[in-house]
Amino acid sequence: MCGIIGIVGESPVQDRLIESLKRLEYRGYDSAGIAGCVDGQVERRRAKGKIRALEEVLASEPLNAKVGIGHTRWATHGAPSETNAHPHKAGRVTLVHNGIIENYAELRDSLTRRGRTFESETDTEVIAHLLDCELEKKPPIEAMKATLDQLTGAYAIGVLIEGEDALVMGARRGSPLVVGYGDGEMFIGSDALAVGPFTNRIAYLDEGDFVAIDHKTARIFDETGQPVQRPVRTVAASAALVEKGNYRHFMEKEIHDQPDACQHTLSAYIDPTTGKVQAPGGVDLAAFDRIQIVACGTASYAGSIARYLFERLAGLPCDVEVASEFRYRQPAVSPKTLAIAVSQSGETADTLAALRWCKQQGLTTAAVVNVHESTMAREADVLFPTHAGPEIGVASTKAFTSQVAALMALAVAAAAARGRIDAMEEKRLSKLLLEAPRLLADAAQLEDEIRALAPELAKARDVLYLGRGALFPLALEGALKLKEISYIHAEGYAAGELKHGPIALIDEATPVIVIAPSDPLFEKTVSNMSEVAARGGPIILITDTEGAKNAPANARVIVGPTCDPFLHPLVYAPPIQLLAYYVAVQKGADVDQPRNLAKSVTVE
Ligand code: F6R
Repeated sequence: MCGIIGIVGESPVQDRLIESLKRLEYRGYDSAGIAGCVDGQVERRRAKGKIRALEEVLASEPLNAKVGIGHTRWATHGAPSETNAHPHKAGRVTLVHNGIIENYAELRDSLTRRGRTFESETDTEVIAHLLDCELEKKPPIEAMKATLDQLTGAYAIGVLIEGEDALVMGARRGSPLVVGYGDGEMFIGSDALAVGPFTNRIAYLDEGDFVAIDHKTARIFDETGQPVQRPVRTVAASAALVEKGNYRHFMEKEIHDQPDACQHTLSAYIDPTTGKVQAPGGVDLAAFDRIQIVACGTASYAGSIARYLFERLAGLPCDVEVASEFRYRQPAVSPKTLAIAVSQSGETADTLAALRWCKQQGLTTAAVVNVHESTMAREADVLFPTHAGPEIGVASTKAFTSQVAALMALAVAAAAARGRIDAMEEKRLSKLLLEAPRLLADAAQLEDEIRALAPELAKARDVLYLGRGALFPLALEGALKLKEISYIHAEGYAAGELKHGPIALIDEATPVIVIAPSDPLFEKTVSNMSEVAARGGPIILITDTEGAKNAPANARVIVGPTCDPFLHPLVYAPPIQLLAYYVAVQKGADVDQPRNLAKSVTVE
């Protein structure tokens, strides 16, 4: 996750930009840069590598500016280099950006036809050019709105405009951005920690908002361009890293963190410029004839989703087993098996023991882990990282979708390495994956509709979740989320299994939640819903626009984003997480610390 800071200051900002960027180092980065207004001109300084390298540049060429922006870059489009480092410049515009602009190739082509030339390989530079074009016709606020209207993707940006000496603009969609209120000075930042050294009075921008700050004010606009107010809160700067922002619970915040977490994770696997997908650590995925995934709880469901993809896309047999069983079962493993442990914490005792057992058998071991200093990350032969950032809520959300994203990318990488898909298909799939952050943000926007279902669902004693294919593990995950935070008994079933037993449970008091965006198996799930409806079971169908057309008459329908079925298990996670969350809130449960549960289970 790139880091962003912007300051409209009364005194020189260079050192403060650097101080803030140092606070953002935890997000991971491979280059850094700052820019500032100096005598009506915008100047920038950039360096590949650590902030120390940027400081060396500044020692010989200081930036004497009172208004400026800064950025730590985690490479996505284009390798880490000074040229690709932010800020990017086009005409009057200098800009920093976090996220992915999905339609950058089309935009770049059209800008090139209009005579614009690009110096970097980044998607960011197209935003700078677009805004510069708009500024030829419009004042800054209108130009910003017109620019944002042309972008597809999930992003946060910070902007300086030459000739506007006391102005910094920002915008967010999918990636967070905060506004910091100082004394005669104003700030923007990618999180509260970025502005923490300067102020503890913060407003969080909403999805689609953009903002213009000067010395004293922040003018905030919603995505339609209407001026809006966002509440200003006082936060404890020291706690900013693990701050809840505008959210009531960490779990809610972490559900909304998912576009960023997923994007950051995918950038470790996908080169968006070439569309190539690779396993980190130089692992040759063609060298294995089987995959064995070991994990516990939610992480095991991420593994189960991956099984569908490793087998279908890569033709690679894949077993998934809960680590607590695997470790004692003395399973028969073939020597060319890649063992993958999946774990948020990297410390779960059963998963760790299973990983060690695989190592003892001489297997190559990998760990899909979020805490990169953890025991599993250190002991596995190779780390397949997730970059979800710290997950505080005990119920896993953003770590889960980051695991799914990483494993999906690995399945594509395995398919390419094994020659099961050609370069074009690899590119198509990687492009789809890069759309996931935006789609996750769209899915999280269903919050109000889902909240409205909570009062009724909270009365249930039992709830069933149904899904087919790779959405079956998501049904299991939905049921786990509900039971662990709301204490309502819930079970997930493969939709086709219903009639083999669980259908006996259906009555008017047993809600059935069906996760079924339209795909080749949708018709079959419609039949299963009819079986439920015929027995008076209340149905909540989570589907897409196409699926909604075939919903049973009595079903409550939640319409999520339309996307390629490949992405369904990822994109349809936020609705089931939100459902569990709002039911738990409705019941007054301790959402972030449910009874009897621990975040990291280091005992058997
Ligand atoms: C449920 C949940 C747990 C964990 C499981 C494994 O929301 O979080 O089921 O997934 O305890 O933990 P990690 O991923 O740390 O190995």
